[in-house]
Amino acid sequence: MKTKKYFVCNECGFESDKWFAKCPSCNSISSAVEFTADIDFKKNKKTSKTTSEITYLDEEVSIPVRIKTSIKEFNDSINGGFVKGGIYLISGEPGIGKSTLISQISKDIDGFVLYATGEESKTQVIQRYKRLNIENKNIGLIFENDIDSIINTISKSTKKPSVVFIDSIQTMKSDEFDSIAGSILQVRECSKKITNFAKNNDITIVLIGHVNKEGAVAGPKILEHIVDCVIQFDLEKTSGLRMVRITKNRYGPTDEIILLEMTSKGLIPIENMNEFFLNDYSNESGNTLTIIKEGNKLIPIEIQALVSKPVYGTPRRITSGVPLDRVLMISAVLSKKLKMPIESKDIFVSTSGGFKINDSAIDLAIANSLVSSLLETPPLGPTIAIGEIGLDGKIRSVSSIEKRIEISKRLGMENILIPEKNSKKVKSCTPIKNINELVKLFKGV
Ligand code: TYD
Ligand code: MG
Repeated sequence: MKTKKYFVCNECGFESDKWFAKCPSCNSISSAVEFTADIDFKKNKKTSKTTSEITYLDEEVSIPVRIKTSIKEFNDSINGGFVKGGIYLISGEPGIGKSTLISQISKDIDGFVLYATGEESKTQVIQRYKRLNIENKNIGLIFENDIDSIINTISKSTKKPSVVFIDSIQTMKSDEFDSIAGSILQVRECSKKITNFAKNNDITIVLIGHVNKEGAVAGPKILEHIVDCVIQFDLEKTSGLRMVRITKNRYGPTDEIILLEMTSKGLIPIENMNEFFLNDYSNESGNTLTIIKEGNKLIPIEIQALVSKPVYGTPRRITSGVPLDRVLMISAVLSKKLKMPIESKDIFVSTSGGFKINDSAIDLAIANSLVSSLLETPPLGPTIAIGEIGLDGKIRSVSSIEKRIEISKRLGMENILIPEKNSKKVKSCTPIKNINELVKLFKGV
């Protein structure tokens, strides 16, 4: 047995036998962490003579068993529930609500659930369950950060858990490795140990992983390769909503999202997005609705703009939820192509709840709101505008237009502005070719 030195990038898990100042894989600076591994160099090693079995596509295979949780939206996002024997990672910044979410979803799981935490005390965990009104006797707690001890406990227990939650993987360690909990080596090796154990015993494992911007703890990047499914937890800063995304999924499609609100009773999924985002909408100057695409979800959102005389010498441009560069581009196009006196004005643009949007299909709604506010004229009626604006002022087509129109109609909207290029098969919408046509829609212009 020989000992070999390795260097691993703490950010992305890149491995090298030489030290590196800058990671060749992810370009992180000073992210190399040294560790040693025991390597068994067998003398007179022979090439393997074993053979592998070939499987054909017509072979009968069983459909994976799904374990449902108490949150329907969560089950839907992972294609119907946790897969029996599957390994899941829930990652997110500290304090975002990971422990709350797993406590909530553990509530109605069929079978015995084990919640192992190396992070919180008995009082903290039990208090949280009490606050969430969960009294399920089928939930067992272990307060332990030794992964081998957790595995031994499960092996020896007469009650085989169907799901094991590990909160968090960064607090776990194995005495086999001479390294502190949270180091890249411990995170990787502990995950591998619990993963192998789970696969052999058909137990679902849900690992909680903290993401730390400074990279002080091993980033869950390394874990993403080990697990079957990555559930990413993000805070939408202005609205305070929690956005849960599936970014890797060996059992189905990715790109699903759920929006959750943190309340005194825990995380509550936003079921009725229309009510949440459109409650305060009224057809006044500067207001326009649009349908955005976030992951695979289509969400109706209100865009509000205020164009006013500048208070200070230099005009201000302030946005909330809308990318500033899109607003700057659209106002430049309006000014250049239509000679609208917008560049000298203060411009404020926001989305309902400050919800952050990264979909360029909102351009037409931004333009409609800006023009409406500048002219101090409300749109002709409640309006939904969908379309991207090019630097030449032409309206570009967008994806999923049929679905966006369907949602608009369900909202009872009659005034639906869409790109002319998207309008071939669509009736009862107003096709818009360029911003010139958009401005002509306003009365008295
Ligand atoms: P937590 O789940 O502990 O976050 P994480 O495990 O990601 O670090 O919860 C984060 C915050 O949520 C915490 O500050 C308390 C708050 N919270 C509520 O607002 N309502 C609740 O019902 C619970 C349980 C927590
Ligand atoms: Mg926690």
